[in-house]
Amino acid sequence: MDVEECLKEWEDLSADYKRLETVNKEYVTKLEEVGELQATCMKEITHQKYRMSIIANALKRFDKKGITKDERLAKLEKEIMKRKAMLHEINTTLPKQNSLYLRIILGNVNVSILNKNDKFKYKDEYEKFKLILSAIAFVLAVANLYIDFRPLQLILIFLLVWYYCTLTIRESILKVNGSRIKGWWRLHHFISTIVSGILLIWPQNEAWEEFRHTFMWFIAYISVVQFMQFRYQSGVLYRLKALGARHNMDITIEGFHSWMWRGLSYLLPFLFGGYVFQLYIAYTLYNISFHRSATWQVPYLAVLFLMLHCFNMYTILQTLKKKTQSSMKLRYRLRAIAYRLSNELAVLEQKWRQNKLEPKSE
Ligand code: COA
Repeated sequence: MDVEECLKEWEDLSADYKRLETVNKEYVTKLEEVGELQATCMKEITHQKYRMSIIANALKRFDKKGITKDERLAKLEKEIMKRKAMLHEINTTLPKQNSLYLRIILGNVNVSILNKNDKFKYKDEYEKFKLILSAIAFVLAVANLYIDFRPLQLILIFLLVWYYCTLTIRESILKVNGSRIKGWWRLHHFISTIVSGILLIWPQNEAWEEFRHTFMWFIAYISVVQFMQFRYQSGVLYRLKALGARHNMDITIEGFHSWMWRGLSYLLPFLFGGYVFQLYIAYTLYNISFHRSATWQVPYLAVLFLMLHCFNMYTILQTLKKKTQSSMKLRYRLRAIAYRLSNELAVLEQKWRQNKLEPKSE
């Protein structure tokens, strides 16, 4: 390039830069508009919730006074349920504050995923991550059953510490993004991190030798259960996605419902098997705690396993009770998800069509 060419190039580039500046200005204005729209949506949601709570309280008072519910009131109750499901779905399109745990670990970085399809992808990745790690844990647990080699045991236990710790972070991100995951399942993974941490510092003594095999069997068993959970959860995810893409929602919602119960009836016996195993481990550890070589880790682990058993049992029974009692709520929740998804798909389709038409018109 000579001097003249350099200057000419620079002039050309400056013209391109003007274009970039215009696009960027438009982008910043749109961002500001988005911020304002988000704030308005949040205000409107608070307004809806406030006025709905007043109406719901009035309905409760009617109940207390023994006023019989006529058709209009029953319809109103249903409408409130529907509106709640829709508000939850609208809420998931808005950015959220990080929880305290995420703020401590990640700082105040924005982890909100505002697009439903990206949310599905994130959840799908989370399930796959659990599956892969469970497969590795299964192989290591089986290897440990046949090979008595301390470093191999430590590799497995260290993997468990890292795995559960990572799960707590991923689940907190899912929660920020509107997942209805129950507090106990998240706490369960915090406790599992502590359990694995204690196991890591349990010295290699006679007491450990006595417990080692039971523990490896347990890890192998829950890895298999994890595989079943993966099949159930990815089935749920796939069906929820399909629900948004179809038009006859009633039929697909019914289909979802019956599939969910079929999936659960297949999974539940194995889950209960896992909880009985946890109780057995607590009992084994209790017995080992009387061993002369037992260190402080043994009774603490016994209590933690007992705790896991009791709360798992309680939570799963509560989940089942809720699922059988509030099938109407589930229907509205599914309908709201399907409605939002079909809206997003329609927007995507429109964009795709526009993109296809634009080059032709040029
Ligand atoms: N871990 C992570 N997320 C869970 C979860 C778990 N154990 N249980 C439920 N969730 C999530 C669901 O994926 C769903 O997420 P979404 O709101 O993003 O769609 C939300 O929590 C609500 O789920 P819910 O409708 O209450 O239950 P479900 O039908 O999805 O699952 C069970 C029900 C019983 C299958 C599930 O809770 C489970 O597998 N529990 C057992 C876990 C366990 O005990 N593991 C140890 C084995 S020894």
